Amino acid sequence: MNYNIQPSTKIHTIDDAIKLSKKRLPKLVFDFIDGASGDDKLAEINSSALNQIRLEPKVFKNVENRTLKKTILDFDFDLPFGFAPMGMTNLSWPEADKMFAKESVYNNIPTCVSMASSTTLENMYEYSEGHSWMQIYIFQDEEFIMELLERAKNIGYKVLILTVDVPILSRRARDDRNGFSYPFKIGPKQFLDFALHPHWSLKTLLKGAPRPMNYVTSSSGKQIFRRKESRGATDWNTLQRIRDAWKGKLIIKGIMNSEDAIKIKDSGADAIQVSNHGGRQLDSATAAINALPNIRKKIGKEFPIIFDSGIRSGSDILRALAFGADFIMLGRPLMYAVGADGARGLRRIINLIKEELSTNLGLVGLTNINDVNHKIIAEKYFKDIKY
Ligand SMILES: Cc1cc2nc3c(=O)[nH]c(=O)nc-3n(C[C@H](O)[C@H](O)[C@H](O)COP(=O)(O)O)c2cc1C
Repeated sequence: MNYNIQPSTKIHTIDDAIKLSKKRLPKLVFDFIDGASGDDKLAEINSSALNQIRLEPKVFKNVENRTLKKTILDFDFDLPFGFAPMGMTNLSWPEADKMFAKESVYNNIPTCVSMASSTTLENMYEYSEGHSWMQIYIFQDEEFIMELLERAKNIGYKVLILTVDVPILSRRARDDRNGFSYPFKIGPKQFLDFALHPHWSLKTLLKGAPRPMNYVTSSSGKQIFRRKESRGATDWNTLQRIRDAWKGKLIIKGIMNSEDAIKIKDSGADAIQVSNHGGRQLDSATAAINALPNIRKKIGKEFPIIFDSGIRSGSDILRALAFGADFIMLGRPLMYAVGADGARGLRRIINLIKEELSTNLGLVGLTNINDVNHKIIAEKYFKDIKY
């Protein structure tokens, strides 16, 4: 695929991308991306828990030729990670969704399209040349969900992610403080924030403020995205109805508990995604990485587990694979990258992560990403987590 993007020369670490995007984006937008729920600490706890897991270098191994190729749910990808679903990504920069889609084709990896995405399912499937997976939340309006499933099936989507950790939307203090809401309300405070970030504001003005396009284009015509709408009235029967309606692969996202995981496996889902929503839901939950080994142990070796929440580097991907994940999803780093320097920023961050992943795979003495297991972790850190 000819997607000729020169990687950003301004970004050398994820922290560079965070700093640059903080500068370039209105505060209200940066905080929407960066923020977590409640005490606003769990996003950071997710990453520092990963960082505390130390790997063990191995020597005298021929690690000249290495491969990062992974197969998950019968799809062959060139890398063991993809792009997590995120709503309203075009807030981070106009056409961010399109950049994610194109970058996913370039790397042959999946990109997940949020139900609340700012680009339609149809356009995302086209831009990503079929690399898109669709994500939905369970809302009370099941009619709309079923319409989306039918629509996704007709477009050609093969994978559905059902996110189940938002039965109630958690409060995010930074959003409240900044007056961030959807539909947007622009008062004097927001106006000033936009005026202080003219590059973003002018681009966004030219392209039009992002809208939840899957709702806007709904055939029932009556669907309006209300972020704070209650999603609580769902139960295990809802899962069964979704399983019956969706014949493609089904991933259940937002699992932090082994009993839930086993019940989901027994209900006929194809995979679970261990995640605490990047610390955006239950603020007092454990770091997602610490929930992973026990879930892997209880669910058995074969059942596919995808992992997200806190991944910031190639080493983090190795850590999560070593703790029992089969595949990883990146969240905020994509938004920081695009916020920092658009498609060039995204190319640079993905390059950094994959180069580090390949280098560090060799430094722990392996040549094939599929051979990663708990033995790459220094003993002190894995003695309690064997599975
Ligand atoms: C700005 C933003 C929007 C998100 N929107 C969604 C969404 O629409 N659907 C969903 O399942 N998860 C959503 N998530 C959660 C991500 O899919 C993922 O679980 C999380 O970002 C992983 O944590 P990390 O970003 O710290 O790596 C969102 C996350 C962020 C940061």
